[in-house]
Formats: sequence, structure tokens, C-alpha cells
Amino acid sequence: MKKVITYGTFDLFHKGHYNILKRAKEYGDYLIVGVTGETYDIGRGKLNVHDSLATRIENVQNTGFVDEIIVEEYLGQKIGDIIKYDIDTFVIGDDWRGKFDHLSRYCNMVYLERTKGISSTQIREETFDQYDIGIVFDYPDDNQIIKESKLVNGFEVKNIYCEDKKVLDKFLEKYDVENVCESYSEMVENSDIVYVRGEIEKRYSYIRKALVAGKHVIYDPPATFKEHELEELFDLAKKKNVILMKNIKMVHIYVFNQLLWMTQGGLIGDILSFNCAISKYDINRSNLFYDLSVYTLIPMLKIMGQDYEKFDYIVKKDGENVEFASMNFVYPKARAIITVGNKMRVDNQLEIIGTEGTIRMKNDWWKSRNFEIHTPDSTDVQVYNTNYEGNGFKYLIREMSNLLANNRIDSRRIFEDESLTIIRILDKIKKVKN
Ligand code: CTP
Repeated sequence: MKKVITYGTFDLFHKGHYNILKRAKEYGDYLIVGVTGETYDIGRGKLNVHDSLATRIENVQNTGFVDEIIVEEYLGQKIGDIIKYDIDTFVIGDDWRGKFDHLSRYCNMVYLERTKGISSTQIREETFDQYDIGIVFDYPDDNQIIKESKLVNGFEVKNIYCEDKKVLDKFLEKYDVENVCESYSEMVENSDIVYVRGEIEKRYSYIRKALVAGKHVIYDPPATFKEHELEELFDLAKKKNVILMKNIKMVHIYVFNQLLWMTQGGLIGDILSFNCAISKYDINRSNLFYDLSVYTLIPMLKIMGQDYEKFDYIVKKDGENVEFASMNFVYPKARAIITVGNKMRVDNQLEIIGTEGTIRMKNDWWKSRNFEIHTPDSTDVQVYNTNYEGNGFKYLIREMSNLLANNRIDSRRIFEDESLTIIRILDKIKKVKN
């Protein structure tokens, strides 16, 4: 019996898929199809797949050409499959020509001509809503949203607005955006989603205007130092039925969710200590301290909770600019220390000590692809990791896409009370006089 294998995502099943499966079967007696798993697709940056794995499998099965379906779960699985299933011929469309030549050591390698004029990408573009993103900024970079949003179907940065002509020119040297708006109102009007990326003092009013206009908003937190203003923004978003999402990419990344699961599910025992540090210096951003602080406070509040009994701090300021702060939170049975250096240099790291294990994330932990668990009674180190490229913005956009598809406005990754606690903490630091 001659066995043939082929692979694909088979999203929004179309004629091209049907044809390749039909022709693949003609190369043998038994056809195996590897359909890509969701985690594998996400890991390789394919975030725009519409149909669930179950639907895609069902569609492949319904062609009647397929004898067995397997799930492609990781990069490099194909060679193992060829050996395991004793494959004679590997078939794939000629969009992959040359890419799989190395497989000819294991079996016959056949590239088949693609059916012209159709693809899942094309169907997705024609079928689903398109969301135009507008960015309002005070810094000459886009935080990678232009590139990363394109990776999620239906999202694209189309509009920008910047008050400062020099910053705008610098931005335009690097990025190509369709519409450079003359005013913020014009940008809001032309966009479905507004990304607010500016000085903290301006964020609240930019966000408010966009929400009043009924637009979804992504913003770099903190939005404000005033609790009542943040509450007002939350209420406004609800009233207008739009999404108001913090740009904290970390909470959308697999490895962070694994970390959360481990710590919340008691997998490292009772937590005794949470230690987290971050530092960055950017001469052009005077209030960077507060942005950095949010990055440390979110994991702390998510992992340790909000019922700390005492909060004290040491703050070093130069005028209004916070150069360094060490914040100490005393919980009933644990302690958290957060260190943020704006000018002062601090080693970026995150360490959580539990009675049954210690978790460590080194270097830029907030965008880390892995963490280690050291068990107390052995020298054994387990590493949990994930694979992703870019800075993770695409995962945040994908979350937005899911929310829009489900008609939801709250993402449940960061809760309102957590955001309000952060504002109260930051406000205390802001009021410190040196
Ligand atoms: N295929 C084909 N003709 C097409 C589209 C796809 O022969 N018009 C083949 C591919 O070459 C591959 C298989 O079908 O061997 C599965 O392809 P898949 O990537 O799932 O489909 P695409 O339509 O190419 O998807 P996308 O646009 O997301 O890349």
C-alpha cells in the first residue's frame, strides 16, 4: 500500500484545498492529512485563522479523499510523521517549492501547482470586517503596532496624528501610513480603533475624546493619575459599548498565562516572596517611570492579589521626574518588592518564591519567552517556554479581534479594580516631594 501525506491549515475550506487533496490521493492508496493545531499556528505567527481546528478537520474529512487525519502540533514534526506513518510520498502546493527538498531523503517529494485565484487569505479579506487603526503619538516610534497588527486579519494602521511636526517627520522617515491627519478629531473620525501613545498628561483627554466618539481604544497605561478619571473612562467605554484596552502585551502571551496558572493553582506552594525589577532610561521620556511601574505592578497584583496590609516606598526624584523607587508591599503571609529604575540602573528580573518552588524570569522578563522553576529539594530546573516573534502586539490585537467577534467589551485579562489599585499606588509616588 502506498501512503501519501500532506499538510495545511485548511482555513475557510475552498476549491484549492479540495483540488490538492484530490490530487494528493491519486499519488497513492492511503492519504494522511496533517491539519495545523491552533497553538502551532499561533506560535508561528499565523494569528488570522478563522475556523476552529475541529471545523477544519471536519471539512478535510468531508472531501472523502482522506483516510486519516493527524494534527500538526510543532515545528519539525513532519520528519517524525514520515517515519512513524511509513510515508512513500509527501505532497504540498508549489507555494512551498524548494522549501521541503530536504524531505526527499525520506520519501518522494511532490510539489503540486496551486489552484489559481483563491486562498484562505483572500476569503478572509473579502468576508470579514476591516478595522482601521489610528495612532496618536508623541514619540517617534510605533511600538511595532504597524507591523504586528497586519498579522491579524482585518486590522491595519491607516491613520496617524502627532502634534509635534519634528516628531511626526521622524516617524514618517520610518513608517509608511496612508493618512497623516491634520487634527486629532480627523484621526478619530477616520479610525475604528484609536491607539493612544503619548505623554501621560495628554492620555486621559485623548482617550476620552475617542470614547465619546464611540471608538475602541488601546492606550499605554497609566491613562491618568486620578482614580475618578479612570473610573469615568471605564464608565464611558461601557456606555458607548466600546473596548478600552491597556497596551500591556505581557498578559496576552502564553508564557505569562502559564506563570499565572502555576502561581494561582498552588503549583509552587504558598507564595512567600515576589520580587520584580525593571529599569530603562530614555532621555526623551520624562515620565517613563510610571509606564515602567505599571509593567511590574500588574504581575504583582495578579499573582499576589490586592489585599496587602502595608505599602511603603523609597523614591528618588529629580524635580518631577522619578529616577528610582523601591516599593514594598507587606501581605499577610508574604512580601513583594518592586524596584523601578528610570535613571538608576537595576537588573531586570522577576523572582517568585513559593514553599515548593521558585520561579525565575531573567532579563526582559515582561517579554520573556520562558521561565524557570527551581524545586527546593533538587537541582532540577524545569523550563516553560513559548515561541513568538515580534514584541507581542499581535496577541493583543488578536484578543481585540476575539472580543469584537464575541460582542464583548471587557477582555478579563486585567480587571478594573487592578487598574484602580495601580493608579492609587502611582499617585502616592507622584505626590512624594524630594
Ligand atoms: N493550496 C492550493 N491552491 C490554493 C490554495 C492552497 O493548492 N489556491 C494548497 C497549499 O499549497 C497547501 C494546501 O492547499 O498545500 C493547504 O494550504 P493552506 O495554507 O491551508 O491554504 P491557503 O489558501 O494557501 O491559506 P493562506 O491564504 O492562509 O496561506
